Amino acid sequence: MEPIDKSKVRIFDTTLRDGEQCPGAAMNEDEKLEIAHHLAKMKVDVIEAGFPISSPVQFNAVQRIAREVEGPIIAALARATRNDIETAAKAIIPAKKKRIHTFLATSPIHMKYKLGKTASEVLKMAPEAVRIAKEFVEDVEFSPEDGTRSDWEFLREICEAVIEAGATTINVPDTVGYTTPEKYGELFHFLISKVKGAENIIFSAHCHNDLGLATANSLSAIKNGVRQVECTINGIGERAGNTAMEEVVMALRTRKDFYGIETNINTQLISRASYMVKSITGMVVQPNKAIVGTNAFAHESGIHQDGVIKNRETYEIMTPESIGLDSNRMVLGRHSGRAGFKDRIVRLGFTPKQEELDSAYTRFLEIADKKKEVFDEDLVSLFTESHRKNAESRFKLEYYHVSSGSSTVPTATIKILINDVNIEESSTGDGPVDAVFKSIQKATKISPELNKLVISPVTEGTDAFAEASVTITLDGKRVVGKGSSTDIVEASALSYIDALNRL
Ligand code: KIV
Ligand code: ZN
Repeated sequence: MEPIDKSKVRIFDTTLRDGEQCPGAAMNEDEKLEIAHHLAKMKVDVIEAGFPISSPVQFNAVQRIAREVEGPIIAALARATRNDIETAAKAIIPAKKKRIHTFLATSPIHMKYKLGKTASEVLKMAPEAVRIAKEFVEDVEFSPEDGTRSDWEFLREICEAVIEAGATTINVPDTVGYTTPEKYGELFHFLISKVKGAENIIFSAHCHNDLGLATANSLSAIKNGVRQVECTINGIGERAGNTAMEEVVMALRTRKDFYGIETNINTQLISRASYMVKSITGMVVQPNKAIVGTNAFAHESGIHQDGVIKNRETYEIMTPESIGLDSNRMVLGRHSGRAGFKDRIVRLGFTPKQEELDSAYTRFLEIADKKKEVFDEDLVSLFTESHRKNAESRFKLEYYHVSSGSSTVPTATIKILINDVNIEESSTGDGPVDAVFKSIQKATKISPELNKLVISPVTEGTDAFAEASVTITLDGKRVVGKGSSTDIVEASALSYIDALNRL
């Protein structure tokens, strides 16, 4: 295990575990791996890859990340039982740097109603779980679940017991998003000054955003000695989400004068990470979301625009470039060549394979024919789509036609290539998109449940590129499909077919 370094705040990313736990964010193995590779590029210190005991799918994803992703510590979550801990340990065997993260509730309400255990039983179980984890790895993190609603003296005893058993990180979660910045800071000040052995371990913050305080709480914890923050990209997670990584990282960077400490994160990869998570999970980012919302760097008012033109710092506390947004936006068009296209894709943070580049370039020419100017956001969207298609494509949309209007029944005809055979089907529907989806169901003979369809413009204007994200479920399997086009019906059709390919 590397020596404990308290000169930086460690970023423990739990997008693939706590983030994935929220409704609609389930990801498949390849998608998790793609995110994990990007997190490693960003120089995240710890990736919590999943909860291996919860399902074979989770186990396999954690194992693949442990095998294939180098750089960060790979952590796996386990309840405080031998079976859970052994399964977590098995999943992370291939990782060069590994951690078991075990947790047990310590609040009166959780101990009584959830665990059915007394405080003294919990006080025995917690260090026992750490001892079991220590049989497999050196690096063990313990979390007293619902820590912020636990008795402080009891937490102190628990912390001393788990340190004695070998815990190297103690994470005190605000499981229900109940605490406030002042109280959370005070709690860490209390623990760090009172717990025997506190100087030899790292204290960690893990916040949920139920009161919109997750980032403020995490920063207050840092001010009070915490040196690890658990967070997710775009703040996805249970209920109102977890602490957003980009917010904590950029707050520490922008207000270094106040916090005096930073992280190892390469902030220029934040924007790409945000887009990737949004695109894979289908969980949209609100436009006014701090750091990564589409409006985060947009100056609309004339007074602000005038100020920014004269001196950016009049209204900008950080630059779009610092999170990887290129202010020197280049616009491509139908006359842009393959080399310029490739150069732009690489500058946007992709490492394309030749076949991905070829299919993305063909698609780019189609789009450029319909739309005079193709912006960076369009390119990211269409490249991501080509990348997904290259993975596996049993169904391919060959053609579609819809007729709809205020006095006609919406009707769609589609032609889909299925295993090299063209199948054509038609259907009516409640609207053009519904008619297209029904025709696709007829052609593919698959009728999944439709959970969610979100259509959002990627750029502005009536010729904007739109991105559709559809979530469907079949036989308990939930997948997200994506499609983009200047035509929202086509984008929806492509997203539906992408989802079926994923099933
Ligand atoms: O919020 C929480 O308490 C958790 C623990 C498992 C760390 O996610
Ligand atoms: Zn949590």
